[in-house]
Parts: sequence; C-alpha cells; structure tokens
Amino acid sequence: MSDRRNLAGSQPSLQYSPYRSTEHRAPSRPMIRIPGTLSDLCAPVYGWWPIGEADCDLTRQHDDEPHGQRIVVDGRIVDEDGRPVAGALVEVWQANAAGRYRHANDAHPAPLDPNFTGAGRTVTDADGHYRFTTIKPGAYPWKNHENAWRPAHIHFSIFGSNFQTRLVTQMYFPGDPLFPYDPILQSVPDERARRRLIARFDLALTSPEWALGYAFDIVVRGPDATPFEQRR
Ligand SMILES: [Fe+2]
Repeated sequence: MSDRRNLAGSQPSLQYSPYRSTEHRAPSRPMIRIPGTLSDLCAPVYGWWPIGEADCDLTRQHDDEPHGQRIVVDGRIVDEDGRPVAGALVEVWQANAAGRYRHANDAHPAPLDPNFTGAGRTVTDADGHYRFTTIKPGAYPWKNHENAWRPAHIHFSIFGSNFQTRLVTQMYFPGDPLFPYDPILQSVPDERARRRLIARFDLALTSPEWALGYAFDIVVRGPDATPFEQRR
C-alpha cells in the first residue's frame, strides 16, 4: 500500500491571511477529537429525495436551457493507489455563466438565469467514474481585497459511505488569467498540488456540435491527493 500521508505544502492551511475569512473561521485552539457514534456511520448522506436523472445535468433542470457555454465535466475518484472509490456521492455547486449564484447572499449585480439553479449531484460507478453536464461558470467579484475576482470554478463535495468521509474542493479551468490573484487557489503552497485543482481540456470528452469536455480526477488521499478545503 502506498504512503497515505500528504506531502508538505500540498494541502491549504486552515488559516491563510490573504484569504480573509480564514482569519475568522480557522480554529485558534487545538482540535478536540469527538468520538464517532453509530449514527455518524449509518445516517444517510443522500438527503430526502432520491437522485434523479436531471441531477447530473444542470442544463436540464428547468423548462428551458440556461445561457452559457455547455460543458461536460468527467472524471474518476480514486484512492492513493488508483483504486476506484465506488458509490461516492458527488455534489457540485457553481455560479451561472454571468458569475452569479442563486443565493440570497450573492449581491453581484449580474443577471440571474431563470433556467439555472447551479447545483447537481451524482454517484460514482464501480470504476469510481462520474459525469456532469453543465455550463461554464463566470468569474465573480468577492470583496476579499480591492478588485478581488474569483477565477471560474465549480465546487465539489464528496461523501463516501458516511458523513465522516466528506471532502470539499474546487475545480478550476485551464488558462484562467485570475489564478495568480486568487488567495483561495494560492493558499495551496505547492504548485504541483495547485495544478491538481485545474481541470484538463479533453477533446475526447467534447461532444461534437454540443459541449466542450473537461477531465477532472480526484485523489482522496496520499502524496498525490487533491487539495481539500475541508477534510476529516
Ligand atoms: Fe464559488
């Protein structure tokens, strides 16, 4: 079995002063381990409703199609030895093509899209494979510092078999000029680890006359682990 440890600098610190809100939410005291209970291991992670067909296609959740560049995001979730993580719940959320979230706290003066909610979910197959169809999100301002803009990104959450296995990260798009100015991406010290957060354009995933394709694999632990914002 491979080494399960993360390499130094491959994961972001919980506190990183250029990313201002970490100053408020990072723990200032040593963590206290709370013993797990049976309900932590047995409680369902899928929410109230069964996963529907349109849950993994964010362009088909309303009467009409959303505005924006249609894309496919496709990848595998694997462990440190490349073994598939099967049956994992993968949830995504994102801004619309104009860089606006459908959320009460989003005051960015960009249009909401009545045909785009910006949330999806699916479950990995036996090979650890997942796929979403969506639209490419826009960059948005976020007031972290003067003239602060987030690069286009899609948020990912992954649950294994229970709540204690949640991992949260973000996927970026190749060639984004905002990378050097983004404290969230730059909070990952190691450049090779940062690159693991950037999807790869893949012509083979591109659907002719329909959608561009991006590949994004996630490694849940070990020296090649994807950087995660929240980990257990
Ligand atoms: Fe975001």
